[in-house]
Amino acid sequence: MEADRGRSEDSFIENLKTICLCKNIKKGTILKAVYGGCYTVDAVNKKLGTGGGDCKGERCGPKIKEMIEEFLKKV
Ligand code: FES
Repeated sequence: MEADRGRSEDSFIENLKTICLCKNIKKGTILKAVYGGCYTVDAVNKKLGTGGGDCKGERCGPKIKEMIEEFLKKV
């Protein structure tokens, strides 16, 4: 029980990490878009506005791609 709570807290904190620094978009928000059917970086960018900052997705694009790949491995 205590271990489950720890894992849940870890996941909560992990989801608060900012993935798109330019647009201040958190990991949890991106995961929600991926779970909702955005299976490409372009789809996530269109839905959330990631990739539209000063770096044009150079920093967040690879992280988003990795998150999508991780998700698709599980389904
Ligand atoms: S970090 Fe996402 S557009 Fe720059």
